[in-house]
Amino acid sequence: MKKLAIILAAAAVLVPAVPAAFAQQADERPGYHYGPAQNWMNDPNGLVYYDGEYHLFYQYNPHGDRWGHMNWGHAVSPDLVNWKELPVAIPETDVMAFSGTAVIDWKNTSGFGKNGKPPMIAIYTGHNPKTERQSQYLAYSNDRGRTFTIHGEVLSKGEEKHFRDPKVFWHEPTKRWVMVVLLAAANTAEIYTSSDLKDWTHRSSFGPAGGRGKFWECPDLFELPVEGGAPGEKRWVLSINLGDNAVGGGSGGQYFVGDFDGEKFTTVPGWPSAPQWMDYGADFYATISWSDMPKSDPRRVWMGWANDWNYANFIPTYPARGIMTVARTVALRKTGEGYHILQAPVRELATLRGEPRRASALTLSETPVALPVEGGKADIELELDTGTADQVSIALTDGQGWQTRIGVNPTANEVFVDRTRSGPHFHDGFANRHVAPVDLKSRKVKLRVLADESIVEVFVNDGRQTITDRFYRGGGQLTWSATARGGKAVMNLTAWPMRSMGSRE
Ligand code: FRU
Repeated sequence: MKKLAIILAAAAVLVPAVPAAFAQQADERPGYHYGPAQNWMNDPNGLVYYDGEYHLFYQYNPHGDRWGHMNWGHAVSPDLVNWKELPVAIPETDVMAFSGTAVIDWKNTSGFGKNGKPPMIAIYTGHNPKTERQSQYLAYSNDRGRTFTIHGEVLSKGEEKHFRDPKVFWHEPTKRWVMVVLLAAANTAEIYTSSDLKDWTHRSSFGPAGGRGKFWECPDLFELPVEGGAPGEKRWVLSINLGDNAVGGGSGGQYFVGDFDGEKFTTVPGWPSAPQWMDYGADFYATISWSDMPKSDPRRVWMGWANDWNYANFIPTYPARGIMTVARTVALRKTGEGYHILQAPVRELATLRGEPRRASALTLSETPVALPVEGGKADIELELDTGTADQVSIALTDGQGWQTRIGVNPTANEVFVDRTRSGPHFHDGFANRHVAPVDLKSRKVKLRVLADESIVEVFVNDGRQTITDRFYRGGGQLTWSATARGGKAVMNLTAWPMRSMGSRE
């Protein structure tokens, strides 16, 4: 059954009938994670900044709360935190509008600009539901992304069924557009270039490499300065999502670090052959980054769909299914272990913080102590010295006793999220424990925990590892406590209650 669900959902064909979802309690609804008011949502698409607005387009089914009839839904934000839902931007036609990119065509290379203003161009996969053929489409907008004119197909590979998820960007050194698009079933990333966004030339192919699975999906490619690298060092990050077989048990993301000359991506010498995961939880998928960030803002910011194809069509929420993670900055650092990414919630998220509560030098033992965290929407920074304990855990307990635990296990060098007892059963692939490998020789660890009623995003040691997991609890307010097993541990904590984003208040 589980296998069947994966195949049906990920292959983007018919979705199996599911038992009626039980309504999500109002107090379980995330407040500062974006989700549409109703219906189904998956991948973030076309993330782009233009004229004072961050755009979040996404895979959206206006006709129901399960996958199907893909349109590009739309939300905008002035600050990457407060999102406002707008009408559908790109509708389903004879093809569904699958995932893709949006860019601002500043030089009007496409010729679709109007009145001296650059067009917003969406390049996305058109999926023919009858033949299952997939090819790349172009649509343009002259009204700040509110409506798009579909120009039509710009790149195909004949009858290929798994050719999808184009990510397009302007490559300044070669003064051309670059597209990374996947042969999803072959597990390869194909690189094309264009001078006008319409006529594309194939340049190179990358993969299979790292984590392999039924499908590679939703790639991204961008350059970042290297913290701790040689002076002025920059490298390219190629991120590739994996429809199944990822570290969290189902879908997830991996990345490669290397060089890109405008035509070909090559990993740095010694890049590991084992997959390097973006996140160790189950619910961080289809990540892509913003195009055309404001000129004064050097950040690379990305966002993921907080879900897993394993059970995405079954999550017990109503009337909407699917939320995004918070927007995160992604940076690159070089250490003795090589190159790795660092993720952090965007700093703008702090604008939703209320008055902090603090606990210093809190001693933890077998007897649970209540933590000074108010309710289920919180942003928590904590430093933990696991001392003589062999496990420290923070429990979020709901009104019915269901519990989600965030834990640190110094002897096994791991940080984990355990949702085996976090709520009533709804899918066999859900109730599991997710582990990030963390060096705990010093017995010390720093955690930042974003909790939002039915999701935790855990950032370990300044985002060196992250674990993103949803949980669907039984109901009632969440309360927080901590314990240490096998010895004593010490914790310093600052917790801010979080407000909901503006449009939800
Ligand atoms: C990833 C994905 C993409 C595809 C879209 C369809 O979650 O399967 O590969 O474009 O979703 O909704």
